[in-house]
Amino acid sequence: MQLYFMLVRRVPPVPSPVLLEVCDLLTGRGFDVSSGIAEEMLVRSDRLTPTHDLYILKSHTELSLSLAGILHSQGAVMLNPYPSCIATQDKIVASRRLYAAGVPTPRCWVTNDLSLLEPVVAERPLLIKPYRGHRGMGIHIVNDPTDLAVLPRHNVPVLIQEFIPGNGEDIKVYVVGDEVFAVSKPFSADSFTRPGRPYPVSSALRAIALRCGKAFGLGLYGLDVIEGPNGPVVVDLNYFPGYKGVPDVAPLIAQYIEDYANGRVALHSPDPLAAPFFTNGCYPTALEDFTETRKAIS
Ligand SMILES: Nc1ncnc2c1ncn2[C@@H]1O[C@H](COP(=O)(O)OP(=O)(O)O)[C@@H](O)[C@H]1O
Ligand SMILES: [Mg+2]
Repeated sequence: MQLYFMLVRRVPPVPSPVLLEVCDLLTGRGFDVSSGIAEEMLVRSDRLTPTHDLYILKSHTELSLSLAGILHSQGAVMLNPYPSCIATQDKIVASRRLYAAGVPTPRCWVTNDLSLLEPVVAERPLLIKPYRGHRGMGIHIVNDPTDLAVLPRHNVPVLIQEFIPGNGEDIKVYVVGDEVFAVSKPFSADSFTRPGRPYPVSSALRAIALRCGKAFGLGLYGLDVIEGPNGPVVVDLNYFPGYKGVPDVAPLIAQYIEDYANGRVALHSPDPLAAPFFTNGCYPTALEDFTETRKAIS
């Protein structure tokens, strides 16, 4: 069986040790594994057709997603599925879907005229992020209307979220199928290079993580969680993350890919047309609140 990893160029250009181990394990099990970085190839896009049994989308770049779209439209089998990745990658779409799925998320706004946010920021601090952002690039915290006035202009759509005050650390939650892991680390421009410390996965955190996967039809994914004053809040979702700091995760990922390739994994098909749960305008801040809200409105 032929597997193709669609990779992203890494800086510095050393392959991820987890991914290397995954590829070695799959090769050892008889898979024919190859890979490529879209940005480093010349592709005859008008003739591109699927040639592999499974494409593993490990890149988030727009070019990779476009090529993935070409392959998907011709029936290529992809992990994670192309529609799931597209929805995950657009933070504006993703935030709405997370909320609809009952995942505790920050309040969100969008506008291209940031001055319209004045009354909003007068009430609460905000965080502004590019809608297809990555590794914290282009993020601004806006504490009050004065901050708003000096914000640099953005040339891409942004998602504006209520700022969730935490303890200064991100909980990075990593999922392989139904296995959930977490590490905690302070966020910084290069925190993605650090492994973080193991963080206990409570049953509430586990339920939140699995709910995200179900809402998006993802099997290999990660979420960024802030432990806010009212419980954990999911501020970001990523497909096929780096799993940095999760011990012995490569064999699990390899097994998952093998199962997926052999059709033994059925991912939940996300239904974007599903009615939102919160018809009463309640804002859930933790899974328990969500359960209570469901009870209250049913
Ligand atoms: N709404 C929020 N409230 C508080 N902190 C946030 C919020 N959103 C993001 N952050 C912080 O900013 C970091 C980067 O934002 P994130 O949404 O994860 O974007 P990226 O795609 O760049 O990783 C997060 O890891 C978290 O530390
Ligand atoms: Mg993030």
